[in-house]
Amino acid sequence: MKRSKITVVGAGNVGATVAHYLAMKELGDIVLTDVVEGVPQGKALDLQEAAPVEGYDCAITGSNSYDETAASDVVVITAGIARKPGMNRNDLVDTNVKVIRSVVKEIASRSPDAQLILVTNPSDVMAQVAFKESGFAPERIIGLGGVLDAARFRTFIALELGVSFEDVTAFVLGGHGDDMVPLVRYSYVSGIPIDTLLDQATLDRLVQRTRQGGAEIVNHLKTGSAYYAPGAAIVQMVESILKDKKRIMPCSAFVRGEYGVNELFLGVPVMLGKNGVEKIIEIELTQEETAALHKSANDVKRVFSTL
Ligand code: 2OP
Repeated sequence: MKRSKITVVGAGNVGATVAHYLAMKELGDIVLTDVVEGVPQGKALDLQEAAPVEGYDCAITGSNSYDETAASDVVVITAGIARKPGMNRNDLVDTNVKVIRSVVKEIASRSPDAQLILVTNPSDVMAQVAFKESGFAPERIIGLGGVLDAARFRTFIALELGVSFEDVTAFVLGGHGDDMVPLVRYSYVSGIPIDTLLDQATLDRLVQRTRQGGAEIVNHLKTGSAYYAPGAAIVQMVESILKDKKRIMPCSAFVRGEYGVNELFLGVPVMLGKNGVEKIIEIELTQEETAALHKSANDVKRVFSTL
């Protein structure tokens, strides 16, 4: 069986953590690229040398050039700057858009059949930029957001109730920004709606903590942003694509009228399979939830329009 090929662009904390989780799950051969000389080579070789101990058979290559990335099945783009305390994700747009434009050009010409996962923030805006630059069908461009935000929401729910993290499911829709929409009504512990287990004040607090989940980590780290939970979320998306699992997860996808939003990358429930976003699922929302989703969509639209 032919092994899958996965490129990770950007060998910083997020990129290296993605490569680590990918290897541990033996999802394919991995190419790690970065503009900084030595860093992708060093991290890739280090990860390769863990293979005999961990027992994974993946080739892991580090490079400063894009040539090694050719014919990738999935490309995860993490290149660019991360925020510092006091910044929101939109503050990164002017710097990161230049990075993404050039990365996507290089990648698209060498891996014309790849699915692209945009991680660089603001990720919904960067997905939109990648769509324009690549000329790829929109289904093959996916932004990170909801899987990570939902993982945080699930964590906070599990911690509050003292139950297994595994048993908590949750949905967070909208852009991966301060206006994201954690959906209490679609969040459960082993099928039990969380609003029957927690009072309104507690739910409001957990929703707010989820919205600020990225900033909470930035405030601790001071020099950068989160990478373990983002890495795990990204690898779950990659796995669903490469194994054609058709998992339903909240990702930034190109909506064309769904949820009353047109021609925009926005976090919505999608089915992820070998063709990328194979379906956008429209769940029923209350007026209030729809208004929150539109507020988040307007924020993504506004930031994109400044470019
Ligand atoms: C986060 O939420 C980096 O945006 C990412 O941590």
